Amino acid sequence: MVFKRMPLEVWFDEYQFEIDYDIGESGMKFTSLKNLGIDLNEVDLRYGYHLGHPDLRKEIAKQYKGMTWENVAVTTGASEGNFAVIGHLVGARDHMIVEHPTYPSLYQIPRSLERDLSLFRLTWNNEFRPDMDELRKLVKANTKLITLTHPNNPTGSVITEDELKEAIEIVEKAGAYLMVDETYRDMMFDNPPPLAATMSPNAISLTSMSKTWGLPGIRIGWVVADTSVIQAIRAVREQVTICNSSLGEAIAKAVLKQRKALLTKLRKSMLTNFRILKDWMNNQKWLEWIEPKSGVVGAPRLVRGGSTDELCQLLVTKYRTFTVPGSRMELDGHLRIGFGGEQEELTRGLEQLGLALKEIHK
Ligand SMILES: Cc1ncc(COP(=O)(O)O)c(C=O)c1O
Repeated sequence: MVFKRMPLEVWFDEYQFEIDYDIGESGMKFTSLKNLGIDLNEVDLRYGYHLGHPDLRKEIAKQYKGMTWENVAVTTGASEGNFAVIGHLVGARDHMIVEHPTYPSLYQIPRSLERDLSLFRLTWNNEFRPDMDELRKLVKANTKLITLTHPNNPTGSVITEDELKEAIEIVEKAGAYLMVDETYRDMMFDNPPPLAATMSPNAISLTSMSKTWGLPGIRIGWVVADTSVIQAIRAVREQVTICNSSLGEAIAKAVLKQRKALLTKLRKSMLTNFRILKDWMNNQKWLEWIEPKSGVVGAPRLVRGGSTDELCQLLVTKYRTFTVPGSRMELDGHLRIGFGGEQEELTRGLEQLGLALKEIHK
């Protein structure tokens, strides 16, 4: 078993604090306690409930029709949820399938654990849509878990309800589980497909407070699933983090209580930013894209072809603008542009991107 660093996180660790304009992050602009008006003075700084505070679990369960708080495990971001679900469900002799591209830990965890892994590719030629016939072909007798990420990071592709139903049929027939990483689901431009966990006991929903709410610093995410999976998650997490940060849980609870009002505001800003990016894309000649269908990321590629490493490196060092080179997400030739930030930052960052593109095309 070998845990190697993930190239995407190496890139973040190296440059995320060295820039003026961030147009690479995959969430809404980071917020603060002051912005949210949350007072934490009364929070007890003790160990918490190992599956999350019951009040928080109850608040979360309200979003999942037919599920109760006992179907919810609050985790240290979606990252710990991923680790716990994969660690529990996929044993040494088991096989799993991971939709690709996606956030890299989804495939890096099974690689580190030396599990048998197949990648289910979203391709440019299919407009990054999941092809269910291709998925069916990848299933083996020992497949235990399939993971999908929708809205997808970094392509912005969105699965339809019918496709989701097909994926569930596939896992039910195989005696396996489907985990859908729904981290970007609250950022749907229009009606989202149903929450996976509400559709079948073989389906697991995973999400995070990091992206929609601009709160990666509180490290709160959760898994919604059958209670047998939830209990197993507790066993894994007790060996890693034990419980969540009590401060993180308190902030999550306060934010979720204002969920509807905050979402309306965030969606407005997300849609305005998407329009800014779309206009910019339409008025330049070096990049082409499959338009994101939701979320706040897209993955254009260079019209002339080739790697985007040089471009992103130049951008970050000379133009102090942060994007993500596709090579860091096993999607070389593309770059991730995030449009969840402040309007001014996005506009200025895109201007810098234009200058860097001009420079590499000289
Ligand atoms: C699809 C997806 N899942 C999970 C994560 C991890 O998020 P966190 O651990 O901050 O909740 C990310 C982060 O970018 C992501 O894009």
